[in-house]
Amino acid sequence: MKGIILAGGNGTRLYPLTLAVSKQILPIYDKPMLYYPLSVLMRAGIQEILVISTPRDLPAFQSLLGSGEQFGVSFSYAEQSEPEGLAQAFIIGRSFIGNDSVAMVLGDNIFFGEGLAELTQAAAAQMQGAAVFAYRVEDPERYGVVTFDPCNGKAISIEEKPKVPQSEWAVTGLYFYDNDVVDIAADIRPSARGELEITDVNNAYLRNGTLRVYQLGRGYAWLDTGTTESLHDAASFVRTVERRQGVQIACPEEIGLEMGWVTPDVLLSQADQLGNTDYASYLRRRVAEITATGALRLH
Ligand code: TTP
Repeated sequence: MKGIILAGGNGTRLYPLTLAVSKQILPIYDKPMLYYPLSVLMRAGIQEILVISTPRDLPAFQSLLGSGEQFGVSFSYAEQSEPEGLAQAFIIGRSFIGNDSVAMVLGDNIFFGEGLAELTQAAAAQMQGAAVFAYRVEDPERYGVVTFDPCNGKAISIEEKPKVPQSEWAVTGLYFYDNDVVDIAADIRPSARGELEITDVNNAYLRNGTLRVYQLGRGYAWLDTGTTESLHDAASFVRTVERRQGVQIACPEEIGLEMGWVTPDVLLSQADQLGNTDYASYLRRRVAEITATGALRLH
């Protein structure tokens, strides 16, 4: 399975923060925002990843992420010249996807919760049709909203930004598709707001009876980063959990090591490059722990 991180857009709600830099490169506490969605793809087992961003911002992502060998993944890069909709990613990414299935994550989505890796690995393993993740929010009208059949729990409709939402369940920015998505995305037409809507893609799968909607329950956090308040809240959340546990959220070097994609030496040389920072100390600490205990993962 291939992966796409969609990290374009103008980030207008964050002006002036985003007048000169991409939203998805802004810090969420101690690391760039993009590390969080990247970590979700990596923990799902995905190593070939296309980063899509604006012509202005793509060079910054290339200099941040490089080839990906420091994380044990391989990055490709592509431009989206205008933010013409989430589904455009599959048109831009068509040759990258080839004949494979694909997972897409939005570059500003932060997920946190025990069991997410297992859930996404299961979604990736069962790649016929599509899988999306729904989360209960207090402002569903800002999102694609899923309604479930009360009898069997199956999704019966998805409406994009409805004025009167039929449920509180928003579709999050993490999507798994089989290879049909490439043709489905090529066939959809721009919506009234001029965008190629991911909800139209999801509805095509829903009509075929091949859309699975996983509900992320109360034990998960799905955080918004689109406004200065939500950006600050997300950073506070990460800071609180990391300082309490002494464990990093979304450290791609650590995940690469846990997945068996890089050796401890790679982390140590990455730590040397990052100098005398808490992040570098964490990489060194994790290598020392793994060497001492032989256990790759923290519980
Ligand atoms: P939005 O929040 O809709 O847009 P934005 O991030 O540019 O913010 P604002 O409303 O403040 O202008 O987009 C959600 C995510 O999807 C975000 O990571 C940007 C990304 N995106 C693209 O990369 N390309 C697109 O065509 C669209 C619509 C969004």
